[in-house]
Amino acid sequence: MITTNMARNKQVSFEKMTVEQYAAAAAGSKQVAQEIAALIRRKQSNGQTTVLGLATGSTPKMVYRELIRLHREEGLSFQQVTTFNLDEYYPMLPDALQSYKRFMREHLFDHIDIDQSRCYVPDGNVPQELVKAYCEQYERMIEEAGGIDLQLLGIGRNGHIAFNEPGSHSSSVTRLITLDFSTRIDAAAEFGGIANVPRKAITMGVGSILKAKQIILLAWGENKAGILRQAVEGPVNDLVPASWLQAHPHVKVVADEACAAELTRNKTPWITDTVQWDKGMIKKAVTHLALTVNKPILKLTNNDYNEHGLSDLLVLYGQAYDINIEVFNWLQHTITGWPGGKPGADDSNRPERAVPAKKRVLLFSPHPDDDIISMGGTFQRLVDQGHEVHVAYQTSGNIAVADDEALRFIRFVTDFNRQFNIVNEEAQAIYEQAEAFLLTKTKGAKDINALRYVKGVIRRGEALNTCRFTGVAEAQVHFLNMPFYETGLVEKSPLGEPDYQIIMDLIEKVQPHQVYAAGDLADPHGTHKVCLDAIFEALKRLKQQPFMKDCWLWLYKGAWAEWDIHQIEMAVPMSPDQVLKKRAGIFKHQSQKDGVVFQGTDSREFWQRAEERNKATADLYNQLGLAEYAAMEAFVRWEY
Ligand code: F6R
Repeated sequence: MITTNMARNKQVSFEKMTVEQYAAAAAGSKQVAQEIAALIRRKQSNGQTTVLGLATGSTPKMVYRELIRLHREEGLSFQQVTTFNLDEYYPMLPDALQSYKRFMREHLFDHIDIDQSRCYVPDGNVPQELVKAYCEQYERMIEEAGGIDLQLLGIGRNGHIAFNEPGSHSSSVTRLITLDFSTRIDAAAEFGGIANVPRKAITMGVGSILKAKQIILLAWGENKAGILRQAVEGPVNDLVPASWLQAHPHVKVVADEACAAELTRNKTPWITDTVQWDKGMIKKAVTHLALTVNKPILKLTNNDYNEHGLSDLLVLYGQAYDINIEVFNWLQHTITGWPGGKPGADDSNRPERAVPAKKRVLLFSPHPDDDIISMGGTFQRLVDQGHEVHVAYQTSGNIAVADDEALRFIRFVTDFNRQFNIVNEEAQAIYEQAEAFLLTKTKGAKDINALRYVKGVIRRGEALNTCRFTGVAEAQVHFLNMPFYETGLVEKSPLGEPDYQIIMDLIEKVQPHQVYAAGDLADPHGTHKVCLDAIFEALKRLKQQPFMKDCWLWLYKGAWAEWDIHQIEMAVPMSPDQVLKKRAGIFKHQSQKDGVVFQGTDSREFWQRAEERNKATADLYNQLGLAEYAAMEAFVRWEY
């Protein structure tokens, strides 16, 4: 590894707001909670009330959790705190499952000693003709309380702050707005489908927010990295409402690494600062350069390096030719058609070990279809190449089955049983309860256990079908049904001992040489990250066991993003036929086809997304001058 530090002080910043970056959302949230606590205590000791501006959504949850902890364990009191929330859907009853009023009670107010008569959340139940007057009154109440001391914000993927959608001006005040389509899509899962998401909301304006004495914008996860860069480094522009914050005298952004990844200081750090030129950084710089100038690596010239802020690398290597060859070889060595290692081959430059020739492989899939969607080609190769492949489905995935799909199966079974006079009272009770519930279910309501059970069985059948299709014996298919998932809601419980134990037991039983897991590190709230955390914890606890020294952990990306090209340590190519076979494997998940419950912003079906993503990886390799494949699946080896 080449590690040298060019003695030069660049320190250039493209950021127009202060950005504090943390390894993970948890650490950033703790820091922000500490700052809020310090403010409350300072004002309290002067006999003053603190006025907090609060946000809802997934972003501030960990801050609230930490504030609750500070209250319980460190005596932080909220008796002298008044709060104003940013927004509320309209129309919305305060007790509805999705109301922000209820969110605030559940995530904060009910767990601290705050006087809830001073916790203001816009009322989503005000009659339409009174909304304007109500909004004016909300503004007045903030003023009468002395103005907001500290305003907490999240950012929407479209750049909104509160529900100030693109187009909102800096002078806007509290008002009724129409929600952007993208905002409604983001809320669809919470409401059980886009059709149930309200079209309007009451929101504080950009102007109301900018009046706060201090503002902290929280931003987590790779989904928001692009918009955060625009807000922080781009021009002030009402198409990115968060960019208005640049005009505030006391604002900062607190982001995790994933969300800060697109900022110039992280994306191309050699432009803003002096960097350590280790293998990872060199790979990052050279692949970035090649893609920027649109040339294969082996055609990069000294001029290309000089003109793109990479003269340091030239000094280090002497000439472009030598850097190019080295990086080209690094990339070449990541490509293998033998994800379980190539028996009898020299493995010094291969991603996996040749020995043992037949490995025990444990493939963790957070939901019942992530295995085939995200690594179906590799999965098939591992089976075909004779490894003992075990698949572990971590959660039942039951909430992603549509109600009418469940009803179809219930009706099938009841008709079948009736036809042949099959009577099983226990089973019948489940079907009948589930059916009765379905026929009267209100929009977005939580499913009862019987229905969740039926939905779980549907997904289990689909997963088994995929395993049969790839050639995995049923005894090697493990349904873990991790308890943290089984809330029946989008909101899940925290991980607990039983979750860890289930994962540990399986690893101990299989004693794998390879573990594959969905490496969605940047999704602090998603099921994938929770599933990964459980695996990390289990591996940590088992680390001292003798078999673990041979156990390598490979991470695939389970969500839609792919690893950056410079991060990839194993790229498994697929032929056109293998792409088609993978597609057929994904089709086994019929409940997840054709307009699914959790469609997200992307209208493509899962097989289309998977194919486009795998083709894009292959195209990237090809653009960089490596061989041209139809598709590629990508992995990173993780030290645990
Ligand atoms: C919430 C709010 C919104 C959210 C934003 C991010 O009160 O006003 O602006 O902060 O939509 O939402 P999450 O945090 O769910 O990604």
